[in-house]
Amino acid sequence: MHVLVSGGAGFIGSHVVERLLEHGRRVRVIDDLSSGRREHVPDGAELVEASITDPSACRAAVDGVDAVVHLAAIASVTRSVEAPSATHEVNLAATIRLAEAATTAGVARFVYASSAAVYGLIERDAHGEHDPVAPVTPYAIDKYTGETYLRFFAAEHGLDARALRFFNVYGPRQLPSSPYAGVIARFATGLLQGEPLTVYGDGEQTRDFIYVGDVATIVTRHAEEPPTSAALRVMNVCNGSRTSLHDLIATLAPATGAATGAAPEIRHEPARSGDIRHSRGDDAELTAWFPDRPRTALDEGLRRVVDWMQAG
Ligand SMILES: NC(=O)c1ccc[n+]([C@@H]2O[C@H](COP(=O)([O-])OP(=O)(O)OC[C@H]3O[C@@H](n4cnc5c(N)ncnc54)[C@H](O)[C@@H]3O)[C@@H](O)[C@H]2O)c1
Repeated sequence: MHVLVSGGAGFIGSHVVERLLEHGRRVRVIDDLSSGRREHVPDGAELVEASITDPSACRAAVDGVDAVVHLAAIASVTRSVEAPSATHEVNLAATIRLAEAATTAGVARFVYASSAAVYGLIERDAHGEHDPVAPVTPYAIDKYTGETYLRFFAAEHGLDARALRFFNVYGPRQLPSSPYAGVIARFATGLLQGEPLTVYGDGEQTRDFIYVGDVATIVTRHAEEPPTSAALRVMNVCNGSRTSLHDLIATLAPATGAATGAAPEIRHEPARSGDIRHSRGDDAELTAWFPDRPRTALDEGLRRVVDWMQAG
């Protein structure tokens, strides 16, 4: 089986490539290295350094592959707010281009990185895939419209498409600037250097964190499953758990060996506008589809982040 991974030099992408190679798959990566890194592409994968905004590069990239895992994006909500048309070119226009190239080439399977951002600022106990969405930023609007286009490609061209709504993915190789879980890298750095930690708001806001290695296994299973239906399948990728920033610090501190044993110094800043207070996904659909999926515990996942940071 031959799989194209767009964004395979990025945080999640490089872990997906690693997992696919472990499973004996042939992997091609298309990445323009705008936020990804060449050295994160595992040995054994073919790297095509090109932008998915280039139609001929998309056509060449899908040639001969059995499945596409489409992760390339400008994964910054802030940047999408500042530059809606520029981010739209990558996050939506290029998604359509890649899906079009894939269907033209007869690729059976298309796995797409959507986002919990499609649920917008709605507060519910847990977001389910059938709940109404309310995307409010250009990033979220493009992600949701990308899903809608894949519904079209599935219905019109029989593409087996999967839209995976990632919640807060964390793990080694994540940039501290990531809007999803960059806070983990920032806190870990602060703890390792004995510096005060900045918390926006009261620290009791919660997120649904999921370890990147578990996400890689889930994405890989989607890519490998024999093509089933010609209907878009939408699935949350989350743990269905709530972790507050204070919980995060309490779990991270021992993992960093918090030098002095003293409680970390926390500086509170005003809550940032537009930050949702609680975000949690309903993982029932994911669990029904993959009952024995790996579930790395938060303390273990955080320890791996710290090990990675300490390894330089
Ligand atoms: N990290 C999370 O928690 C999270 C949550 C929800 C959704 N997502 C989505 O998952 C995907 C991967 O996110 P990530 O956190 O690994 O981000 P990332 O920035 O590490 O990875 C994105 C990759 O896409 C590449 N890329 C960007 N523009 C490109 C272009 N025009 N052509 C080719 N390659 C291009 C980048 O160089 C990078 O390697 C994205 O689609 C993101 O929106 C991530």
